[in-house]
Amino acid sequence: MSISQLAREIKESPTLRLNETARVLREKGEAVIHLGAGEPKSKVPMDAVLAGVAKLTTADIRYTPTEGIPSLIKAIIRYTEDNYGKIISKENVLVSNGAKHSFYNIMMALINPQEEVIICAPYWVSYPEIVKMVYGVPVIVTSEDGRFVPRMKDIVDHVSSYTKAIVINSPNNPSGAVYPPELIQELVEYCEKKGIYLVMDDIYHKLVFNGPQWVSPYKFSKDNSDSSKLIILNGVSKAYAMTGFRIGWTVANTKVTAAMVNIQAQNISCPAVVLQEAAAGALNGVQSGIDALRMFLQNNRDVMVNELRAFTGVKLIPPDGTFYCLPDFSAYNKDSVALSNFLLEKALVVTVPGKEFGLEGHLRLSYCGTIKEIMEGVERIKWALDPEAPNEIYIGDRKLRRDWK
Ligand SMILES: Cc1ncc(COP(=O)(O)O)c(C=O)c1O
Repeated sequence: MSISQLAREIKESPTLRLNETARVLREKGEAVIHLGAGEPKSKVPMDAVLAGVAKLTTADIRYTPTEGIPSLIKAIIRYTEDNYGKIISKENVLVSNGAKHSFYNIMMALINPQEEVIICAPYWVSYPEIVKMVYGVPVIVTSEDGRFVPRMKDIVDHVSSYTKAIVINSPNNPSGAVYPPELIQELVEYCEKKGIYLVMDDIYHKLVFNGPQWVSPYKFSKDNSDSSKLIILNGVSKAYAMTGFRIGWTVANTKVTAAMVNIQAQNISCPAVVLQEAAAGALNGVQSGIDALRMFLQNNRDVMVNELRAFTGVKLIPPDGTFYCLPDFSAYNKDSVALSNFLLEKALVVTVPGKEFGLEGHLRLSYCGTIKEIMEGVERIKWALDPEAPNEIYIGDRKLRRDWK
């Protein structure tokens, strides 16, 4: 029995595969350093834990409305007003099983077969695959000069009569770039003029450092009607360190939201109630954990940038947000998959090949772990690649010699 053509075309998630590789190696007792991780290590906010536990102890755990529990929707409405300066109603909100699921719902609701979705490289690995999962066509925009921020002209050049949506992710996974307000303004105005959906993936919008700041796209929107084509994607995974809770949401016009609610009703019925309660607890609770996480990440970012600046041959555009950076290693190997495999095999360091994000020659390195992991991880990479680095290194309790050129 054969599987569908569509299923055969969907790639495995490289980031989830690497998480698994790191886990298996650690279980075997290998001193692996995971610089490929996509989640903060900080604890879940206590308000979230307590809200989840309180629900669980009622032993009354049922289906919820498909769109989400009223208290969470209310919290999202307030979040949108506080953070985006936008007043919305409950008919604009849909809670789903993580922002990834939210993105899937958006694509499912918008895209007809062969319609195009513009995605700017470097991009989050799942966008093109999810577009393909709804029989759409991902159209990738790559900046000619290798920069992480696309030029408006590059985006416009890729728009065709089939373009249904443009997806923007700023702060960006994998580069950590924060797109300038002028570009967001141009995008909002252009999409409103052209009637193209603009999907803003804001999952990292609270994890921005002391450089360029994230800006609410509603600031530039002139379309206050209920046919606005601006769609916001957000969730508790990153800023609240709640990746395991799988709660994300969309803010969209009522027609698109109603379509997504129907899709979700036939797909998962609703997100799990205990996890929704916990997410509401996080949004309504003490917010200082986010500041603490941001300061922790900024400090880690500085360490990572210093380490990489002292690495001959590596070029880096420093990240302004998230917990990733995307240094250019092409001086060592232009094939990022081969390079990432080599580093895992020789130095036991997990990195994610830039190719997976649409930018060859780069590696995504995360700095959401400890300072020790960052410093030792980069030191091992140097040892494996840089002939000027010391020839011997300790990995765990093993002393290794570099015996390759
Ligand atoms: C840009 C971006 N969007 C969405 C997601 C998905 O988030 P969630 O874990 O809530 O599904 C991720 C997760 O890595 C991401 O990096």
